[in-house]
Amino acid sequence: NPAKIDKIVSLCKRRGFIFQSSEIYGGLNGCWDYGPVGVELKRNLKNYWWRCMTQLRDDVVGLESSILMNRAVWKASGHETTFSDPMVDCKTSKRRFRADQLDYSECGQKPSKTPSTCGGELTQPRNFNLMFKTYVGPVEDESAITYLRPETAQGMFVQFRNVLEVSRKKLPFGIAQIGKAFRNEINPRNFTFRSREFELMEVEYFCRPEQGFELLEYWLEERLKFYDSIGINRKQIHVREIPEKDRAFYSKKTYDLEFEFPFGVQELEGIAYRTDYDLIQHQKVSGKPLDYFDEETKQKFVPHVVEPAAGVDRTTLALICAAYDEEAVTDEKGGTETRIVLRFHPRMAPVKCGVFPLLKNKPELVGKAREVCDLLRPHLAIFYDEAGAIGRRYRRQDEIGTPFGVTIDFDTLGEKGPDLKETVTLRDRDSMKQERVKIQDLPARLLAAIR
Ligand code: GAP
Repeated sequence: NPAKIDKIVSLCKRRGFIFQSSEIYGGLNGCWDYGPVGVELKRNLKNYWWRCMTQLRDDVVGLESSILMNRAVWKASGHETTFSDPMVDCKTSKRRFRADQLDYSECGQKPSKTPSTCGGELTQPRNFNLMFKTYVGPVEDESAITYLRPETAQGMFVQFRNVLEVSRKKLPFGIAQIGKAFRNEINPRNFTFRSREFELMEVEYFCRPEQGFELLEYWLEERLKFYDSIGINRKQIHVREIPEKDRAFYSKKTYDLEFEFPFGVQELEGIAYRTDYDLIQHQKVSGKPLDYFDEETKQKFVPHVVEPAAGVDRTTLALICAAYDEEAVTDEKGGTETRIVLRFHPRMAPVKCGVFPLLKNKPELVGKAREVCDLLRPHLAIFYDEAGAIGRRYRRQDEIGTPFGVTIDFDTLGEKGPDLKETVTLRDRDSMKQERVKIQDLPARLLAAIR
């Protein structure tokens, strides 16, 4: 449904999820900024991934390695020579396209055509390295060259020895990292899906050689469970085993988890059995040992690696796409209108609860609503809103996916009798059902739903 992505892009801007980077200067292709609610959504995702991958496990520890690393890292890993996409140039339009994506690219002419059908003369494919080159220090010569990292993985491989020593872990164990990565993609497209600056959440899970295939299956299952727990269910994910001809040369087996985006079924995460390729390479080029001594068997060997690598931005986009819904509802005058609602899992929702005084010009209602804010704020992300009709305020929260709304009305003040005093209306985003809840019960009630 291609129209759906246009609606999502427009909602993301209107409600403050995602803006074009440097927008007032015409933008920068392939770069995006996360607005006030977008940054909360993305942070919820990263924090939950971190919690599941490190804090709730005994066998994975964290790392934050630098974005700039010694150029030797990229020589050893093979990125300097092989991290490239085939590209063709159009001699007519002077544009450049990925040779394997001509059917999905736009040639730039109106009416819009693809580079393979517009009649422009294309060059033979050439390899284009995707790493952003930069210089470290004041002299811009060959010896100062390095790259912005295109993946966080290498930082974990080159710190393998240090992490092993300080964590005193035994195989199998993993290192987890979340961080920025940069790729000079030839055709950034589909909103944030293919960006030039993006974030990765990666685990390098080190194991004995004979455990590799089995652990690949284990991580596939773990990752599917993770997506389910953030509101992307298994039916929306396609597991694709990558055929040998399309796999990275060092991988013995790879699964891609693909999601049904409105622009097609596309990769969300790769789970690769990377063998011992990376550690062996770094051991060879650095001359430093990156092996493991097994106390039981008294053997020394270089561990194998299984790597679940997910894109933060792609998963954030998938969360928005999976949550987006439109439904016909009765408006205030008895007609029908379309309600746009993001049905986020409460755990991921940027705001957990809206707090609304029924009327803004009644100081008692406003004062009580502020008290409710103070009660809830230490526990969860809330949004206070007193502007406009209550129905409009609910709709605004629906559009950012806030699972709960609390309204403070005259009953709360005890005007209809003591029974309802100190109670509020709790509205559920999905069913739009409302119930009376005691103010003092709100924190526990809401926390139980969002954890
Ligand atoms: N260390 C392994 C690695 O980097 P990858 O398949 O190249 O593997 C992992 O990338 C994930 O990063 C992808 O599944 C995707 O979610 C995300 N990703 C890759 N390139 C991206 C881009 N240009 N924009 C946004 N996300 C991207």
